[in-house]
Amino acid sequence: MRLQPSHNSDLDQATLVSDSKSDFARDFHSYSNPHQIRVNHVELELEVVFSERVLKGVAVLSFERLSLDRNCSLILDTRDLNVIKVEGSTDGLTYFATSFSLGSRDPILGSSLTIQIMDNCSYIRIEYSTHPNASALQWLDPAQTAGKIQPFMFTQSQPIHARSWIPLQDSPQVRITYNAKIRTPQNLLALMSAENQANEPGDGNYNFQMEQPVPSYLMALAVGDLAFRPLGGRTGVYAEKPVIEKAWLEFADTEKMMEVAEQLYGPYSWGRYDLLVLPPSFPWGGMENPRLTFITPTALAGDKSLVALVAHELAHSWSGNLVTNATWRDFWLNEGVTVYVERRILEEVYGREREEMEALLASENLEKILPGLEEQDRIMHIDLKGRDPDEGITRIPYDKGALFLRYLEETFGRDLFDRFLRDYFTHFAFQSITTADFINYLKENLLGKNPGLASLESVLEWIYGSGIPLNAPQPKSDAFKRVEVQADQWLQGTTPASKLETASWTTHEWLHFLRCLPQPLDVEKMLELDEAFHLTQSDNAEIAHQWLLMAIRNNYRQAYPRVEEFLLSTGRRKLISPLYQELVKTPEGKRKGIAIYSQARPTYHPVAVTTIDNILDWNGKIS
Ligand code: BES
Ligand code: ZN
Repeated sequence: MRLQPSHNSDLDQATLVSDSKSDFARDFHSYSNPHQIRVNHVELELEVVFSERVLKGVAVLSFERLSLDRNCSLILDTRDLNVIKVEGSTDGLTYFATSFSLGSRDPILGSSLTIQIMDNCSYIRIEYSTHPNASALQWLDPAQTAGKIQPFMFTQSQPIHARSWIPLQDSPQVRITYNAKIRTPQNLLALMSAENQANEPGDGNYNFQMEQPVPSYLMALAVGDLAFRPLGGRTGVYAEKPVIEKAWLEFADTEKMMEVAEQLYGPYSWGRYDLLVLPPSFPWGGMENPRLTFITPTALAGDKSLVALVAHELAHSWSGNLVTNATWRDFWLNEGVTVYVERRILEEVYGREREEMEALLASENLEKILPGLEEQDRIMHIDLKGRDPDEGITRIPYDKGALFLRYLEETFGRDLFDRFLRDYFTHFAFQSITTADFINYLKENLLGKNPGLASLESVLEWIYGSGIPLNAPQPKSDAFKRVEVQADQWLQGTTPASKLETASWTTHEWLHFLRCLPQPLDVEKMLELDEAFHLTQSDNAEIAHQWLLMAIRNNYRQAYPRVEEFLLSTGRRKLISPLYQELVKTPEGKRKGIAIYSQARPTYHPVAVTTIDNILDWNGKIS
């Protein structure tokens, strides 16, 4: 495979220029001007008002000036914020009125907030409230929770939603420490991605402190009727009371995962590592909020088979939270490196066989989705300029990124590569870096020191080329080969479904089995599988998802009520959007999809709503 000529100029620039001034380091998804004035600390005081679905309060921003220009303004990112008052201060004690202007609203970026900064001013105090439809926030009625009695709210700041609940420089290049005072109704627990300062649960007043500088996309808050159970010395799980026992059993290996990650990549930098199981409308599998990973309840399979999610979010404690992508263009530095680290953790805790099954499922999926992606979307260094990053992000930065790191591991050998990666995390700790920074570090510390093993050209092909290079590693799984033999025997009619040897199959083997069946598949064949294995009723979210996808594709009507139930009970985008995509392929399916969605839409998170609106052409329909 050859590099696309149009990317050659990118490539030359990227290797020549590795500094914060290059166009590659520009964050096209922020209005802010951190190269002139840089916010370094935020003090929040917010009240959580469920009845109005808003947060109300004050943010005090401390900053330093990097520009000598005395007339420089501070430019912040906001989205749909109601800015009530802006004041400045030289000492953080006495405040004076300051003029500000809110720019026009861009559908992707929101509005800039430009604040006049007077001489010697080092603090800005902003009084504001959020909009009931703030893109980072989801407000759940009691009916949408497991407990059914109390409401619930949570934030999802990544990639550019922090600005919809805090006015700040919403760029991953800007790191801040923060303190927060959060007020909630009584008897609800507030949690943040920070240190919880011995609060009295129940009185509605909570204090948090984050001493390590973090990018804004890692700021997080959740409020609900939550219980806690320790998992180990530094680990524990929060969940709604009806879910806590199941979550505690499922995530029992978390402390072990931390230990192996530390052995591989150095000390964990964030103190505690807790998990928070969200209600089912959480749009992602997981979110690596520091000290407190947010996780989907669809991970609770009952047999630890979906805990790769935990390994993944934990891995972000090194790749992403410690060493952060400077722009969303460099997203593979967060996600690709994380998927690689996730697999290393899985291998240590559950063995190579399990790890290889996960790796193979991912690379098979990657091969499958590639043809459907535009040429420029098959590049790891994704171009998101002018695009909504929530919509532009694909599996490429994840799975191609992970394959690239595995390619380096296989080329240089584990010992060398492990040392390299460990040193990389130490070298760039608490910094935000571009792809060019990574390449320069790689050149100096791996390629240069071990000449003759991998050429710079092949590295650049991985990063800037479109598609999967020919030297890509191939995960191998004997377990999957055995599954394929069974599948063949069933398809050829030599073994009926009821006689297949599936007793020892894990979720991964089931997924591989279902995915390797030919499409279309006769309804009788679907029925035979269902009668033997009750797949329509599977409460493993990944297996159910795969099966229901096939049910729609093959007109297997017996499963339709379950399709509806599934779409009404989970809001995880990855699990629901392929089902809607499959439904819209026929007029009857589309009608069905719209009928289900009109009921489900009010329960989905804004991120999922945007995606499903597009799939169903929802614009203009009444919600
Ligand atoms: N940081 C991501 C989630 C994310 C990415 C949110 C981009 C918003 C924008 C998280 O670490 C992640 O990758 N989650 C995956 C699960 C993982 C096991 C691949 C997900 O949610 O599917
Ligand atoms: Zn991730």
